[in-house]
Amino acid sequence: MEIYALQVNHLSNPLGYALGKGKLSFSWKVKEAKGKAQKYARLRIAADEVMQEILFDSGEDREANSLGYKIDFKTEPRTRYYWTLELASDADEVTVSAPQFFETAKMDEAWIGRWITCAAEQARHPYFVQDIAAKEEVAKARLYVCGLGLYEAYWNDEKIGNEYLTPYQNNYNRWVQYQTYDVTEQVKDGGKLRILLGNGWYGGRFGFSAHEEKGYFGNAKKLIAEVVVTYADGTEEIIGTDETWQIERSRITYASIYDGEQVDQTLEDLAVEPVILCRTFEELAAAGKTDGQMVDDISQPEKDEQIPRGHLTARYSLPVVVHEQMQPQELIHTPKGEEVFDMGQNFAGIFTLRVHEARGTKIHIQTGEVLQDGCFYNENLRTAKSEYIYICGGGEKVIQPHFTFYGYRYVKVTGVSNLKTEDFTGLALYSDVAYTGDITTGHKLVNQLISNVRWGMKGNFVDVPTDCPQRDERMGWTGDTQVFSPTATFYGDTYAFYRKYLHDMYTEQIDLEGMVPDVVPSVGVHTCACVWGDAACIIPWNMYKFYGDEQILADQYESMKAWVEYIRRLDGDDHGWRHVFHYGDWLALDNPSGKADEVMGGTEEGYIANIYYAASAEIVAKAAEVLGKEDDAKEYNELAKREFAEVKKEYFSQTGRCCIKTQTGLLLALKYGLSDNVALTRDMLKKLFTANDNKLQTGFTGMPIMCPTLSDNGMNDLAYTLLLNEEYPGWLHEILLGATTVWERWNSLDEEGHISSTGMNSLNHYSYGSVVEWVYRYVLGFRVDEADPGAKHLNIAPSYNWNLKEAAGNFDSAAGNYKVAWKIVDPTQVSLSVQVPFDASADIVLADAVEDTYADKENPLFADVCDGVCHVGSGTYEITYQVKTALKKSYSTYSTVRELRSNAAIVKDLGEKMGLDRMPTQMMDMSLRDIMEKYAALPEWEQKCWIS
Ligand code: BGC
Repeated sequence: MEIYALQVNHLSNPLGYALGKGKLSFSWKVKEAKGKAQKYARLRIAADEVMQEILFDSGEDREANSLGYKIDFKTEPRTRYYWTLELASDADEVTVSAPQFFETAKMDEAWIGRWITCAAEQARHPYFVQDIAAKEEVAKARLYVCGLGLYEAYWNDEKIGNEYLTPYQNNYNRWVQYQTYDVTEQVKDGGKLRILLGNGWYGGRFGFSAHEEKGYFGNAKKLIAEVVVTYADGTEEIIGTDETWQIERSRITYASIYDGEQVDQTLEDLAVEPVILCRTFEELAAAGKTDGQMVDDISQPEKDEQIPRGHLTARYSLPVVVHEQMQPQELIHTPKGEEVFDMGQNFAGIFTLRVHEARGTKIHIQTGEVLQDGCFYNENLRTAKSEYIYICGGGEKVIQPHFTFYGYRYVKVTGVSNLKTEDFTGLALYSDVAYTGDITTGHKLVNQLISNVRWGMKGNFVDVPTDCPQRDERMGWTGDTQVFSPTATFYGDTYAFYRKYLHDMYTEQIDLEGMVPDVVPSVGVHTCACVWGDAACIIPWNMYKFYGDEQILADQYESMKAWVEYIRRLDGDDHGWRHVFHYGDWLALDNPSGKADEVMGGTEEGYIANIYYAASAEIVAKAAEVLGKEDDAKEYNELAKREFAEVKKEYFSQTGRCCIKTQTGLLLALKYGLSDNVALTRDMLKKLFTANDNKLQTGFTGMPIMCPTLSDNGMNDLAYTLLLNEEYPGWLHEILLGATTVWERWNSLDEEGHISSTGMNSLNHYSYGSVVEWVYRYVLGFRVDEADPGAKHLNIAPSYNWNLKEAAGNFDSAAGNYKVAWKIVDPTQVSLSVQVPFDASADIVLADAVEDTYADKENPLFADVCDGVCHVGSGTYEITYQVKTALKKSYSTYSTVRELRSNAAIVKDLGEKMGLDRMPTQMMDMSLRDIMEKYAALPEWEQKCWIS
């Protein structure tokens, strides 16, 4: 028996994190146990790694919940605690975990270090430096530091830690994060602490105000740091930033998130400069340094010498570190004579390049996502220059950017003689989310899709969940985040990542009367919309469903409520919320305008807005219930009911006919149970798809709910058809055109591989990748549900498809690792294997099994069966069984037109011959044979119109 994934507040061995307002919460998972369930767990916390000085002992607790064992334990600032978990199973195995730790940050402790800055006129990026020498024997040393916009800390010339883009991106007007590093070894040796500062999201051009070369939050480089040295005798020394620090100038002359970096190694060293102590806004005003501005206005950047407005807070952000290191697959010599590396994969990150050029040589590196006519191309990055310019100082060097990142597959290099693939390494940078979920199928293109979506997640998880990582945007669009969050959470452990984003969201709402800005951090974008802003309710609820920890609801409750209240105010007495601007079914293909570059979908936005308003209110009600806030639960329940009723009143006939006859309109009607005539709505939807050759038209709102809603409404085959469609528009179509990540638009590239437009066209936009949620839930069958938050109990109901042949994958849930593998043995036989983790249970549904399958009482899968549902505990279960309906569909003249048209191969090979695309709608459910019999007597010319 092995205990793994031990976490405190959803963090593994956290050093210097904000642990939040709630109680400390410990969680764990177990594998390789002989027993099936946990008998007891015993948590011990100690002051030392050998667990001698015990500070807390839970004793053998039979109630200890592995999803979140919450205890009352008072922590002290800047203190490391060690903990172990002893666990016994019902088979009387007992095991104790290796010691884990958590180390608190400064908590409420005051800072001795002061904010310092440097003269703004000099463009060369500053190192803030201080000599540090230990006075006595060092027991431990920590560096607490925050530098704005971005910082990298060095001990002499060596980087401290392995993180990039610190202190990360958030709403700096409200909070700035500091990080903690263990510098014990460095301080023992003594040396120079050098902290290099750049612009980043704080001080560089970024967001929608990026037309100007200035920062939205501030323009100066500011630093606060403390080196806290604990000597062997227990005494402490704190070396904080103050006027004794000095400035040395680096040779970085320019750095920006969008535009890249510039370095000139031929520049001479400059004399050291003194630092400037920052002051409060009031002090600066009194000293006449605020241009007469008497009140600190957060719509304006901070003053250069101003102490940052944001509250200095221990980190929430996970580390952004280098993961994959990739060599180019090829060095391409393009028709234009360019030298371009092909990395073979679109991703986000930086790179290293080994160069050896004469002093003064200019090296120019640019990145792009796609080649056009075999040549380098980057116009879809819009104004983002995404480049790196390096003037050589002579000698051999490995160059690497510091304060930027790129979203790229192709790299154009000029200025390097004898360019070689082995000299270039692409470094994928993203937040350190543990990736645990895997899927493989018997379909090559689907496997590629799963890889593309995972890469999309990596590239858009650079601290903030972004829309895209390459163009002049890279922003935390709420809608994209909302629709992708379940997929992301199947792929990996996202709790801490989204916790930070949601915390940031709330800080924005405080200044916007509850409004959830379209992007978070908003960087001045103060507009909002349905589906996008509803992220405030939907994401915490998703997190609760996946992790079963109500703390996320407690943390976000005010945010959730504030959003619904914001809508309520706007909605007033006349449905005002329906009438303001909404993105709606953004980028759907059914706008009546039919324009190729249309962005608005064909589904009325007011309809979508009203539904999401009601749905968000319903989530608040459910959250209130979980948190024991009964009055709120009642109030928001009533609000939700009222608003759903309003939707029905306005958009449905009395008999339940939906007036919004688009794919998305009808999908929403089914998903939210809005029609009183479900059969009619399903039929309308089916017909709409048939009329569109079973191809999707959905955008950002409709697409994520499409396949799950179809599956839930008896149209699982159609969901598979949509997934497996290789023609435009569809996921596999992109792959056939060479996509290695998911595109923003269904037609980002045309059939010849030409970019369809440059205005808004990213090739790494994960929103449409949210179809992978359906793959996890319906292909593998992991039905995560709010009835069993945290998946201690899981309904497992895989669905099979002949074209997929087989699928296998795992879901490393908060409760442990579930696995499913199925394979179609022959057209009527399937083999299935399911693994249920320790201390969990599952209800397994064998799709379409013939009755006598369940008769095999030898098989532990059937020990407890009720209505075809197999109730099982922890263990591995296997079965090969017959299905009632052959999985391989055969077609004949007895097949209906609808059936024939749903098969891509038939449409392709025989469609023209049989006139399938010309059949009138009323013939859809007739077989070819019926049609022939009924209409054979028609004049030949008329027959020809239908059947040629
Ligand atoms: C972004 C989207 C975003 C949208 C708002 C775009 O520019 O890239 O992904 O959700 O704007 O509709």
